[in-house]
Amino acid sequence: MAQAIGRLGESRMKLSNRGRISPFHVMEVLREANALAESGEDIIHLSVGQPWVEVPEKVRQHAAKLLTDGATLGYTDAKGIMPLRRKISQFYKDREGIDVPPERIIVTVGSSAAFYITLLSAFDVGDKVAIAIPYYPAYPNMLEAAGLVPVYIRTDASTHYQPTVEMLEALPEKPAGLVIASPSNPAGTVIDKAELERIVRYCDANGIRLISDEIYHGITYGGVKAASAAGMSPNAVVVNSFSKYFLMPGWRLGWAVVPEELQRSYESLLQNFFISPPAISQHAAVAVFDCLDELDSVVGGYARNREILLEELPKLGFRGLSPAHGAFYIYADVGNFTNDSDRFCKDILQQTGVSIVPGQDFDREEGHHFIRFTFAAREAHVRESLQRLKNWLK
Ligand SMILES: Cc1ncc(COP(=O)(O)O)c(C=O)c1O
Repeated sequence: MAQAIGRLGESRMKLSNRGRISPFHVMEVLREANALAESGEDIIHLSVGQPWVEVPEKVRQHAAKLLTDGATLGYTDAKGIMPLRRKISQFYKDREGIDVPPERIIVTVGSSAAFYITLLSAFDVGDKVAIAIPYYPAYPNMLEAAGLVPVYIRTDASTHYQPTVEMLEALPEKPAGLVIASPSNPAGTVIDKAELERIVRYCDANGIRLISDEIYHGITYGGVKAASAAGMSPNAVVVNSFSKYFLMPGWRLGWAVVPEELQRSYESLLQNFFISPPAISQHAAVAVFDCLDELDSVVGGYARNREILLEELPKLGFRGLSPAHGAFYIYADVGNFTNDSDRFCKDILQQTGVSIVPGQDFDREEGHHFIRFTFAAREAHVRESLQRLKNWLK
């Protein structure tokens, strides 16, 4: 007979504080939406931040061929395969007009791994790292899990939910690091090039390690371009990803542009934590650089969705929409509807089948009167959800 192994909660073993970080509310919204979908409800997702379009056929065929040809898909170099690092380097040259040698580019298991390894290689336990509120939820969670101390910079619509040099100057103490994201999640806003240069200069002059999250580069609208910090400072760490513009979220691939002085520790940490990024994904990603027109046409679809939402949401009474010039998010102040956006989103989900994320993930204090719309969705779904919201709000 099998022995009873005890019940959860009975153990007297120590549990790490490191794991006691906030859960992702968006994943909980997703869980509820999926449960409703399984019970037969017609659910529209305007919640999860991933492209709804699959990676181009050419990339899938390339990956399939690698498998059927029996290609060697063992561990790769911890920093990623050179052909991919070269493609990324060329991409910087073609798109941003900047020279980023492949040796400075390190391929990672999504930008999530790049971000975490950056924290471990650049900072020590107890160091302070500044982030703007509202933030991508994993930033404070990963900082806390790494034993670092988040220093919050509250932003609002007046600076497009982005930090400025003046806000950095106003901090009581200089942090060891600063995290920025442009275009951002949840607001979709872009730091313009001149302001980014000021931030980079300020960080360099004050010994603050800048981490620039550029995973939504390539997804901008109305002629706006997001500049890369990679061309502005040898000290900044830039993280980027194949999950958004490149349509490969589940392939778990990203990269970092890593300063010379961090290269060695970055590589050692990666070797120990991950050995290498997934081989099949890296080889497939080499082919995605031949499909840039297809990727750009997907961005064209997001642009239409964005226009529809920015035009129609105010008619439904949604005010205070973030000027989303990039990514596929609109952050909306719903203070005129509710002071409990969690309940508001649950009600919308249960009564209309439209899944939207409450702001608490992005701002623990003020998020209760914000919500985030994701428009990486079919245009027909965006239109249908507007109709459902209209009926519900009546
Ligand atoms: C701002 C931001 N950074 C990083 C990530 C992590 O993405 P990945 O690990 O898939 O590259 C996300 C995912 O949504 C994000 O929104």
